[in-house]
Amino acid sequence: MRVLKTALGLKTALQENQGQTVALVPTMGALHSGHLSLIARAKAENDLVVVSIFVNPLQFGQGEDYQKYPRPIEQDIDLCQAFDVDILFAPSVEAMAINQGQQQSLVVPPEHLVANLCGPFRPGHFAGVTTIVCKLFNIVQPNVAYFGEKDFQQLVILKKMVEDLRLPVIIKGCPTVQDPSGLALSSRNVYLNEQQKAQASGINTSLMLAKEAFSSGERKSSPLLTIVKQSLVQISPKFKLQYLELVDPNNLKQLETIEDTGVIAIAGYFGSTRLIDNILLNAQKPIVTIDGPAGAGKSTVTRKLAKELGLLYLDTGAMYRAAAWLIKSQAIALEDHVAIAEVMASMQLELLPCDSSKYSCEVYLNQQRITEQIRSLEVTSLVSQIAAIASVRTVLVKLQKELGKKGGLIAEGRDMGTEVFPQASLKIFLTASVAERARRRFKDLQNQGIEKVSLEELIHQITQRDHQDSTRKISPLRKAQDAVEIITDDLNLDQVCVNIVDLYLNKINQK
Ligand code: PAJ
Repeated sequence: MRVLKTALGLKTALQENQGQTVALVPTMGALHSGHLSLIARAKAENDLVVVSIFVNPLQFGQGEDYQKYPRPIEQDIDLCQAFDVDILFAPSVEAMAINQGQQQSLVVPPEHLVANLCGPFRPGHFAGVTTIVCKLFNIVQPNVAYFGEKDFQQLVILKKMVEDLRLPVIIKGCPTVQDPSGLALSSRNVYLNEQQKAQASGINTSLMLAKEAFSSGERKSSPLLTIVKQSLVQISPKFKLQYLELVDPNNLKQLETIEDTGVIAIAGYFGSTRLIDNILLNAQKPIVTIDGPAGAGKSTVTRKLAKELGLLYLDTGAMYRAAAWLIKSQAIALEDHVAIAEVMASMQLELLPCDSSKYSCEVYLNQQRITEQIRSLEVTSLVSQIAAIASVRTVLVKLQKELGKKGGLIAEGRDMGTEVFPQASLKIFLTASVAERARRRFKDLQNQGIEKVSLEELIHQITQRDHQDSTRKISPLRKAQDAVEIITDDLNLDQVCVNIVDLYLNKINQK
């Protein structure tokens, strides 16, 4: 691992690794397991991981703890080393072009995102965060950056900054890590004494009570927030509440009633130590993802499950077919990636549930129904070339994620649970041994009267395909950490589906 202190050093180091995917995990140091969970995920999903440690003066208000903020740099270096971080970027205030006392350019978040929660209590704080994160993005130029959901308002504001300023980086949110008592980990927890620490776990306990009430059907803000307040008074009497709000997770607007999703966010003090936490309340129908290698039976299983569970089958194959149909019908040459990008960027694609057993879904493109057209031989012969074009994938993955916001769908592929729907309630990794997949393929081919390929040859082909699928740059096959693996060697279609329905019902009942 290299520890670098200047933008020039960092730029030079990154130039030596061109062509690799770069992840950035911005932190203010005093690393704990919350930070480390971000680093571990970045490491699992990218070639190169840069962790930045910078206690950013721009985001501390007057009277806040900038001077006394913990800075255990040696310990942080050891932790980054242990987590196999590639570059630790620890710049000075000057290296970040901050001249204290002098005015400088700022990135300012929109008013509506700082109008509630921490915003009114920490004037200028979020502009300090967006400015420093924007500087870090410009210096590191990462493909992906990881942030914790614990700082929920920060995450929403940074996503909006990236969208509004068209910054070429993907922001990934990661779940809050808690200590065994339920207290959200924070670098500021070191300020708490034993009694405060014991009471601090009450914050999460109280939020969980609201979640229980929500699970039993309570949707109104006032009773949900009252449950949290009353519980805090009882179990954390030393906690001085600063705010407790129910907001829409997409735009942070206060909610009276939860339609689909809401976040209860809380902040307050133990003595002079300020703590925050939040909890997501989600009434959406779940998302199920089925990933796995080619030939494991994903599409048959997914189609059957969609019907049984009443979920939309998000047929990503149909989406790529629709793109192929569009490009073909506009007579665009396959080599003209610029024209393809233009037409993809403005296309409107809709997938709707379908009653007939013939198709997985109804497909509408720019308001025209093309459910049958996308199944033509011409489209079939084009689709794999179209799917390999970067702009096609970018647009379609964005659309898939957008559809995921409504929930209630099942999707199969290679990276549905890892990249497209990391929030899925149930992730399945469906696989079978190479020998078994080859045997099934052999039988299929025989049934179609094709007997030219030997079983050995198929085994060889499938092994090669597996290797290609898991090492390819774009959307590699990966099993999500929280996926359930099902090996289908000795199972028939019904047995696999019964298994998954059981897992699904268990998940739903847990919610
Ligand atoms: P810091 O508080 O050090 O947090 C760095 C990252 O770790 C943030 O994305 C934060 O949300 C995440 N994090 C903190 N506690 C966590 C927990 N218990 N579980 C999961 N993730 C957690 O947030 C900042 O620094 C700064 O504002 C920064 C973004 C670095 C800009 O200066």
